[in-house]
Amino acid sequence: MDTNHIHQQAIGVFDSGIGGLTVANAIHTHLSKESIYYFGDTNRIPYGTKPASTVLQYCMEISQFLLDQSCKVIVVACNTATAAALPQLRATWPQVPFVGMEPAVKPAVSATKTGKIGVLATQTTFKSPRYQRLLERFVESYECFENPCIGLVELIEAGCWDSRETETLLRSIVEPMLAKGVDTLVLGCTHYPFVKELLQRIAGPAVQIIDPAPAIARRLESILIDKGWQRQRETKPEQKFWVSGDKDALEKALSRLDFQNPNIFRFQSQ
Ligand code: DGL
Repeated sequence: MDTNHIHQQAIGVFDSGIGGLTVANAIHTHLSKESIYYFGDTNRIPYGTKPASTVLQYCMEISQFLLDQSCKVIVVACNTATAAALPQLRATWPQVPFVGMEPAVKPAVSATKTGKIGVLATQTTFKSPRYQRLLERFVESYECFENPCIGLVELIEAGCWDSRETETLLRSIVEPMLAKGVDTLVLGCTHYPFVKELLQRIAGPAVQIIDPAPAIARRLESILIDKGWQRQRETKPEQKFWVSGDKDALEKALSRLDFQNPNIFRFQSQ
């Protein structure tokens, strides 16, 4: 890494697919001078039903790729990948700040009035020791209802953000939670904000839905400030996107977000 110009380097962001774009978009909105390099591992999605050891190996490969592009910071824009890999990523590259994601259980317990929260995340996230520790620390006297949302990531990757099939699946997930008195839902997978509007319609306006992406953008900003690594607007920031599978899902998702003229590349592994 060229440390003389480190502040000008891009922020690396990755996920199993298009989900992390919800985080990249929040970063782009909050830190508009920064360049963003995004990697979506669409060829190997989903991560959420794979063993943590497999996800860890993918995270190591992608982080190496982003660091080869001279990224100054890496945002692991995937709850599953964070649960499976964050400590190992930090130990492997101690000079690189890694920002991880975890289900926003803490803000949810502060927000709930009924004392009942619902967490939507993947199987691998729920099974992780990291998530179990989160529950032990914050949930205590609250009731927490969980659902691994089987099939939802695939529907979102397919662009079915408002389809009948997605609505049926979401209803089967959240209606039992609402019947128990849940008034706060945590989007514990970065894909799920793509169906937030549909979810809000199903749950009704009284239910609060927590998407942690803006908080991640603020956390990233404080790291950049601490290190003096904020990008100066000497040249236009770059927005580059790599996918390991086909580009369709990413192109469709980007057309709904705020990026202008993004460059999209097909990543070929050696
Ligand atoms: N977007 C990922 C997350 O935040 C998981 C999606 C997947 O299962 O690949 O957990």
